[in-house]
Amino acid sequence: MIDKIPRSELTEWCYLQGKAKAMQHTHLRDLAHDHERNQALTFRSGPMLLDISKQKLDVPILKGLVKLAETVGLPSAINALVKGEAVNNTEGRPALHSALRLPKDQTLMVDGIDVVPDVHDSLEKMRSIVSRIHSRQWRGFSGRAITDVVNIGVGGSDLGPFMACQALNEFVPEEATRLHIHFVSSIDGTQVADLLGTLRPETTLFIISSKSFTTIDTLSNAHTALQWMLKAMGDKELVVAHHFIGVSTKPEKMSAWGIPEANQILFWEWVGGRFSLWSGIGLPVALKVGMANFEQMLAGAHFMDKEFSDKPIAQNLPALLGLVGVWNATFLDIRAHSVLPYDGRLKYFPSYLSQLEMESNGKSVDKQGLPVEHSTCPVLWGEVGPNAQHAFYQLLHQGTQPVSCDFIAPIKRYTGLSHNSEAYKSLQTQHQLALANCLAQSRVLMLGDASTDSDANTPNFKRYRGNQPSTTILLDELTPYTLGALVALYEHKVFVMSVLWDINPFDQWGVELGKKIADKMSQALAGQHNPSFDASTLNLLKIIADVTQG
Ligand code: F6P
Repeated sequence: MIDKIPRSELTEWCYLQGKAKAMQHTHLRDLAHDHERNQALTFRSGPMLLDISKQKLDVPILKGLVKLAETVGLPSAINALVKGEAVNNTEGRPALHSALRLPKDQTLMVDGIDVVPDVHDSLEKMRSIVSRIHSRQWRGFSGRAITDVVNIGVGGSDLGPFMACQALNEFVPEEATRLHIHFVSSIDGTQVADLLGTLRPETTLFIISSKSFTTIDTLSNAHTALQWMLKAMGDKELVVAHHFIGVSTKPEKMSAWGIPEANQILFWEWVGGRFSLWSGIGLPVALKVGMANFEQMLAGAHFMDKEFSDKPIAQNLPALLGLVGVWNATFLDIRAHSVLPYDGRLKYFPSYLSQLEMESNGKSVDKQGLPVEHSTCPVLWGEVGPNAQHAFYQLLHQGTQPVSCDFIAPIKRYTGLSHNSEAYKSLQTQHQLALANCLAQSRVLMLGDASTDSDANTPNFKRYRGNQPSTTILLDELTPYTLGALVALYEHKVFVMSVLWDINPFDQWGVELGKKIADKMSQALAGQHNPSFDASTLNLLKIIADVTQG
């Protein structure tokens, strides 16, 4: 019912608009020294701390956001999500990534079928494959054990496992130390060509990861990999059985490609591509860090699922992060958001999030199919914070663009090394430097000049405006468990924002047209004239043809 009332006509929305207007005249430094406010805007749950006290909001605004969330039905939307209702309305299906993290003894009925046994059967198949590869029972065509695994996938079939493999590099168990995991995604062949030159066919295993098993980027890389294998050993059936695993929702397409059933890991249409890290798409992660660590990641995500579904909105970490996101993007009209981990292991977390957030919430039509009247997902980018300080922080500090930031850091690091070694002390110092920089940057972004001793004589080019809002997320440490919780935090944040905006975060129709036109363009490049193209495209095609033909 309430969905039919435009957001802008809701009392709670109007209240927040008024607050946002008033906030335009408030500088963050005016809010910075209120300890009570700080306490009210700092939240801890399990191994994670969420500090939103450097955001341009106060307690009444946060209460207003919570009220708005309740009015637009966020609690029931969360319930619909985790219970498997068809929240993806344009494709008529649930979005049940949380079911992939459910413990074995739980039940979740979707269309009269309990999905939990299927999830655990698939995990069992992963476990068996991981164990055979780690124990060197899985052999290549020549009888040699596998030394290299190449994940071929793109988007959600690449970014999540790639990010997690980098993040958990310190969690490789003894039995996996001889295994090297590689990732290939780009359609142009650069990665696959470079990589194949360094590998040996008889000890290399490819995982073809594709929810749809139709993505041309992935299938063309897989084709190149297969041709490379066939050059070393011409028997396709033998080669595919020993060197190719498929992960998809489409068993018939994997079979048509030649992958035997024993090498197929299945997942389900109700898992969105960018939410699929927890399914068989996570196989490279399990191969890298072992199945036990992969399951720790699932456990951490499940912890966050419970936080999300059980806690009241006002104390619910993903809900709060999402509400702050909406406050910034929609009410304060901040259209850029930067994610800044102060831990090199999280280097690829921002690019993972750029798909998660922008492919999900980069929408301008609401769930009724009408244009939205408010701005939705900001442009999201990021980089390891200390490196970004030497690259784009200049714009954050002195540019003309308002930007909101998420600072992310583990509190403890390098705890496993011998306390007496010099290397340990040096690394500890480096971690402290990272933390110092993290806190320094969010402080300067908040206060600007007020964080230093500049005075009226300081020239403008040395001045800092400040007033750039940020959130700080601290993990006790970065482990498989806390990484799982962190990723699930952002998955649910995305959902919260979509509910407030009344958009569907689980489809991605915006990427379809480009694929169709690329097909036509391939035909044109192959020499088929297409007069219906625009002048610019026709001219570029002609130049390419001229240069190609010499
Ligand atoms: O084109 C976008 C997209 O469909 C993403 O949503 C998805 O993660 C990616 O392509 C890869 O898709 P698939 O796993 O089906 O190959």
